Amino acid sequence: MHIRPATLADIPSILALERQSATAGHWTEEQYRQAFGQEGGRRRVLLAEDFPPTASAQENRSRADTSISGFLVAQHLAPEWELENIVVAPPARRQGLGKRLLDALLAAARRTNSTTVFLEVRESNAAARSLYEKAGFEQTGRRKSYYTNPPEDAVLYRLFLP
Ligand SMILES: CC(C)(COP(=O)(O)OP(=O)(O)OC[C@H]1O[C@@H](n2cnc3c(N)ncnc32)[C@H](O)[C@@H]1OP(=O)(O)O)[C@@H](O)C(=O)NCCC(=O)NCCS
Repeated sequence: MHIRPATLADIPSILALERQSATAGHWTEEQYRQAFGQEGGRRRVLLAEDFPPTASAQENRSRADTSISGFLVAQHLAPEWELENIVVAPPARRQGLGKRLLDALLAAARRTNSTTVFLEVRESNAAARSLYEKAGFEQTGRRKSYYTNPPEDAVLYRLFLP
């Protein structure tokens, strides 16, 4: 599995993966386009794919969307980062990929001399909460009925970067 920065060309694969996951954050194609444009300059989109970065990578990418196994979107609001979304394809879950994507973000955040990473998650999202807590995130609060469809509290987490 290879983790690399995503590009505009990856948006269809990212959208397809996001749509498979009810608990993921859901963005429109336009919002993803903005993440790669000038307004999205503070954003980092990382992607996991199941083939090595060879010269034929571009050809493989156009052949099959299924090469995308996960992605993460984060925003840099110096000196902090916010993790906005992280999704692993259902068949690839529970194999350490979510942790690898999160570790890649934390490494990138440390390189920007950032102090803190924030995120919010649905209270009932046990898988994501366990991933974050194992990575050292601490619960700092909640936003009552923050989510809709279905309505649910958001739990807020924070990680201080060493
Ligand atoms: C949350 C998510 C990204 C985790 O990805 P993953 O690749 O399965 O996670 P990992 O294999 O790296 O697991 C790391 C840790 O997370 C926790 N975890 C992951 N899936 C879990 C589950 N189904 N139940 C409980 N804990 C879970 C465990 O603590 C796990 O460590 P362990 O395997 O040693 O027990 C994935 O479940 C997903 O895509 N969910 C849908 C999208 C979503 O809800 N994203 C969060 C939006 S805020």
